[in-house]
Amino acid sequence: MTETAVDQLTEAQARAELARLAEVLAGANRAYHTLDTPEISDAEYDALKQRNMAIEARFPQLRRTDSPSDLVGAAASDGFGKVAHQVRMLSLENAFDDTDVADFEDRVRKYLNHNGELAFTAEPKIDGLSLSLRYESGSLVQAATRGDGEVGENVTDNARTIADIPQHLIGAPDVLEVRGEVYMSHADFAALNERQALAGAKTFANPRNAAAGSLRQLDATITAARPLRFFAYSWGALSEPLAATQFDAITRLAALGFQTNPLTLLCHGPDDLLAHYRQIESQRATLGYDIDGVVYKVNDLGLQARLGFRSATPRWAIAHKFPAELAWTELLGIDIQVGRTGALSPVARLKPVTVGGVVVSNATLHNEDYIVGRDAKGNEIRGGKDFRIGDWVQVYRAGDVIPKLADVDLSRRKIDAQAYDFPRECPECGSPALREEGDAVRRCSGGLICPAQAVERLKHFVSRHAFDIEGLGAKQIEMFFKDADLPVKTPADIFTLGSRDADNGLKRLKNRDGFGETSAKKLFAAIEDKRRIPLDRLIFALGIRHVGEVAAQTLARHYSTWEAFEAGVTHAVPGAVEWDELLSIDGVGMILATSLTAAFQNDAERAAIDALVAQLQVQPVVWKAASDSPVAGKTVVFTGSLEKMTRAEAKARAESLGAKVAGSVSAKTDILVAGPGAGSKLKEAAKHGVATLDEDGWLALIGDA
Ligand code: IVH
Repeated sequence: MTETAVDQLTEAQARAELARLAEVLAGANRAYHTLDTPEISDAEYDALKQRNMAIEARFPQLRRTDSPSDLVGAAASDGFGKVAHQVRMLSLENAFDDTDVADFEDRVRKYLNHNGELAFTAEPKIDGLSLSLRYESGSLVQAATRGDGEVGENVTDNARTIADIPQHLIGAPDVLEVRGEVYMSHADFAALNERQALAGAKTFANPRNAAAGSLRQLDATITAARPLRFFAYSWGALSEPLAATQFDAITRLAALGFQTNPLTLLCHGPDDLLAHYRQIESQRATLGYDIDGVVYKVNDLGLQARLGFRSATPRWAIAHKFPAELAWTELLGIDIQVGRTGALSPVARLKPVTVGGVVVSNATLHNEDYIVGRDAKGNEIRGGKDFRIGDWVQVYRAGDVIPKLADVDLSRRKIDAQAYDFPRECPECGSPALREEGDAVRRCSGGLICPAQAVERLKHFVSRHAFDIEGLGAKQIEMFFKDADLPVKTPADIFTLGSRDADNGLKRLKNRDGFGETSAKKLFAAIEDKRRIPLDRLIFALGIRHVGEVAAQTLARHYSTWEAFEAGVTHAVPGAVEWDELLSIDGVGMILATSLTAAFQNDAERAAIDALVAQLQVQPVVWKAASDSPVAGKTVVFTGSLEKMTRAEAKARAESLGAKVAGSVSAKTDILVAGPGAGSKLKEAAKHGVATLDEDGWLALIGDA
């Protein structure tokens, strides 16, 4: 067949020719890189690529999203581009035993107030890494890793080299984001490691690492040479629903050309789920790829939508994990690490041992009670056996959880083995290490004078969900903390780094470890950038015990501005209205309130906080959720029983519309939603002149009636 010269092609012919070349070149690539069996010669391959490029140059508007020009030999960029997920990529809550599964079903029913039929799907939990594939008008346009769930890495070129991932779909919604797991089979993993070893290259610890290392290659030709596979099990953004149920949606994905797991089953209730779990577990060793549990999902997608999400996990799914993997080794020593809140955490140093394919040399020992064989309530665990240095101990690890010591073999204990003496003083600063009543943890009482606490707090301060300062990670914090010339001892010091001397800190910073003029300037710019900080991030960044990300968001939403928050917390002492206000916030209990107010009322802590805030412009909370909703920004209290939805669902729905949900009625309450059986809150509302609605009135107001 003679080819039409590029300059003679009509636009229609060019489009058809580009489609043909894309297919031929993709096939040739796969044959070459994945199957190691080239179908065409290098010269032919190059000629086809040249032709493709020439047509693209003449008709730039026809360039395909899967253009072969982008595929192979693309110049390695300096890292992957970032992709903001249109729909967040979440993780799953875990269940470890049958009771957790029954509890899950129970919670779902309670949340929905649903007593009838309730079906679930059950399918293997693949031990790989998740990937989101975006198709527009049937063509793959983007592939992104999960990243932190909100922003992932753009690995489109790499994903295109995976045979299980279709480049084109027929009959798919206009916008379809397919999510699933990239993994490597046991056989492919073993063969890859063998090839790597022969070539003197790095070998991988397990198939999951191999899959991750292969997908996250800057050079897509390396990914192409790695035998990656993909199972589809979920979806993100969609222009129209895939189906009415989880099971049918998965069937639809299979019909579109995706690999879906053949062990996916529709189940009716916990007994059914557990039976399928045992069935999958019994096949685990012969599946040929790693799985670490079974995932259960509510089948009805309407119910899934009502159940919605917690901060990082859906309420409609759970991962039932397989029991952990075990190994025996020798306990070489016990080190104490001092954390951000002063907790003394014992860490076991072990003679390296392979547990489920991963070499383990450290394991957590939790706390001093755990070492002596007691749980938090003082009851015996492991039959009361303690751990001693030199003991023969059992290590266990479950998925990516930190390894733990599970047991000790007393028959192998050395005669002179000494019981471990847990330190009563902080090994870092010498301050007394105290245990409060009811606390399993012994804590250094040194506060900010303890270098370990101070440095850990700084690391937390700059961490991803806190200030997230580019170029200032844990490693740089360690360096600055010890730096005699440019010390950073408290968060405020970070913001004065650039102005410490006449040379704006630059001269002093450059030429030391890892910093040149450009990176020093970049760091100062990154710091400047974070002087404007959202209130919730600031509250979280302070690293106050019991004030995690969710609590920080709750507090920020309630107080809206730093000034209101600071005044509210400073004056919150039992008996004061500020104390009652703090405790009225849904999600704030005694423990959190006590810890938060203690930090603000401690002179040294307070001085550090004030010095920091003086450097910042704290951004108040803006109600980004549905500002056109009539309840946005309003404080709502629910009381009595609700009939159309559960309390938890009502709260989540109200918050999604931008309302604040409080636990008790005060003059600040805007709306009281009272169901049957409402009592004292109705009277309180009347006293304060708060508008009161019944459930139907509330649903009508928010447009859900
Ligand atoms: S569903 C919204 N199904 O497990 C929840 N996840 O621990 C979407 N995973 O991030 C996830 N197999 O990477 C789902 N059959 C499966 C899975 C699965 C493996 C991974 C996924 C997720 C992680 C959570």
